[in-house]
Amino acid sequence: MTAVEVRPMRWWDIPAVHMIETSIFTNDPWSIEQFWSELSEPTRHYFIAAIDGDIVGYAGSFVLSPEADVQTIGVASGHQGQGIGGLLLTTLIEHAMQAHAAQLILEVRSDNVAAIAMYQQFGFDRISSRPNYYAPDVDALIMRLRPLALDTTYGGGKR
Ligand SMILES: CC(C)(COP(=O)(O)OP(=O)(O)OC[C@H]1O[C@@H](n2cnc3c(N)ncnc32)[C@H](O)[C@@H]1OP(=O)(O)O)[C@@H](O)C(=O)NCCC(=O)NCCS
Repeated sequence: MTAVEVRPMRWWDIPAVHMIETSIFTNDPWSIEQFWSELSEPTRHYFIAAIDGDIVGYAGSFVLSPEADVQTIGVASGHQGQGIGGLLLTTLIEHAMQAHAAQLILEVRSDNVAAIAMYQQFGFDRISSRPNYYAPDVDALIMRLRPLALDTTYGGGKR
């Protein structure tokens, strides 16, 4: 895999992140203002992934130990399937572990096959659902990683 840098997201990253956001979350993308608001909250922890300085993915969490939630995770469509989502999720898990969170919770659309497969690969279990939350027959699945543990066999999603 090409060298991918993962680092904390800063306010000046918002335009590039927002461009990816609008291209991958076409139904209901976050606004620029929402990213500003997230970055201003001390409980939020956002990271970007970059290749040769170009942002190709981002992820963020809410951490207030013992609770932690995955707020969002996204990889530009031209860079999906290269292990970048896995790298970003690993970063969120490591950060939550360092903050002594007891578990990591997230919500995902029941029709998001790629994301659900990634979360399951990292050990997330489905704990509940909100039927028809996103659309008729598209539920919100609530998934949880507990106890927080990294799957050390994960190789970065190389294909
Ligand atoms: C979900 C997402 C972040 C995954 O990022 P990615 O960089 O493509 O994922 P990786 O290459 O790191 O793959 C990690 C694992 O995810 C799963 N996965 C990724 N793409 C998949 C696909 N198209 N089909 C099935 N499983 C897939 C696999 O388990 C994979 O591990 P493997 O390569 O060892 O098989 C990316 O698809 C994305 O940005 N989707 C649009 C935004 C989104 O849905 N975000 C999640 C909201 S809850």
